[in-house]
Amino acid sequence: MKKKRVRKGVEGLIPYPPGKPIEELERELGISGSIKLASNENPLGPSPLAVQAIKERLRGLNRYPDGSGYYLKSKLSERLHIPLDRIILGNGSNELIELLVRTFLSEGDHVVQAFPTFLVYEKIVTGAGGIMTSVPLCDFTVDLDGILNAIRPDTRLIFVNNPNNPTGSALSGKALFRFLRQVPEDVVVALDEAYIEFVTDSGLAGAADTLRMLDEHPSLFFLRTFSKLYGLAGLRIGYGLGHEWMIDYMNRVRQPFNANSLAQAGATAALDDEVFVAKTLETVRDGLTYLYGGLDEIGLEYLPTQTNFFLIKVPGGGKRVYEAMLREGVIIRAMDSYGLADYVRICVGLPEENRRFIETLRRVL
Ligand SMILES: Cc1ncc(COP(=O)(O)O)c(C=O)c1O
Repeated sequence: MKKKRVRKGVEGLIPYPPGKPIEELERELGISGSIKLASNENPLGPSPLAVQAIKERLRGLNRYPDGSGYYLKSKLSERLHIPLDRIILGNGSNELIELLVRTFLSEGDHVVQAFPTFLVYEKIVTGAGGIMTSVPLCDFTVDLDGILNAIRPDTRLIFVNNPNNPTGSALSGKALFRFLRQVPEDVVVALDEAYIEFVTDSGLAGAADTLRMLDEHPSLFFLRTFSKLYGLAGLRIGYGLGHEWMIDYMNRVRQPFNANSLAQAGATAALDDEVFVAKTLETVRDGLTYLYGGLDEIGLEYLPTQTNFFLIKVPGGGKRVYEAMLREGVIIRAMDSYGLADYVRICVGLPEENRRFIETLRRVL
């Protein structure tokens, strides 16, 4: 073919670098018994209550899913004290990022994000022909004043990831309230709270506070996910919370069966899995204490986190350490695509995985 035609904005896109599945890496490197601490996943496996519910739903796979997601949305509504018509489901929260862009952004419109942050925002915005301005983090934290200063008359959308991936830093509720009051009413603010349930510092915005912010801004939208706390990353289910008018338009744009029936059943059951949630939070808390201690002993700098992952500054560059660890069967994440070439990012694993990480890192360095 002489000329390949693609949509404006798609030509320059770089594929998202997902953490490779363990099986694929082991095949490539000819190794076995590796551990993966690269994708901020839940090391305990999926919520057992979700697995049970999914098994029970298998027999109904000949039917299309409930396109309205009634049972899952009802449970969320009850838990979060949010009316049903302020909730929308997604095939992972990633799909909701795409839906936001398809619903509120026209080609050439302007969007603001922090940087470094979750790489998917820029990818989807640019692919849709939007113009992204990235405001550098200030001391590894999202610079809300910088974002306010970057707003232009043609700005339609702002992405704020709280806590922020890859830095693990969270914003205070006070700072967020102040920010929201200053954003023009018609600019959609997408607050991505994929890791909000992990926030432990009571001075920072946690899951209980942020929903109160909905009434502070008429175009506010929250993104949440079952991929992390509930261990359901492979199931692909997330949800969004926003004003009725936003949900109404997004429902017009979304595919009718975007949340599949196993995902709806699994997520509904996971919301009741208090034992699993408590165990996850404890695993992350204890794992972080152990990992921080190990890094202190080695003498490496790291960024204390409000999530289940964090950045470590490594001598000789993150890519080199990533590759050396990989050869030892420990999969972590290099941060060059996030503009942090001196860092690697890891997430908390099981106690034996955390130990193996520290021992391997010590050896590799
Ligand atoms: C900040 C952030 N938002 C969203 C997601 C994607 O979540 P989901 O699995 O629900 O699509 C991730 C996953 O890594 C993330 O880090």
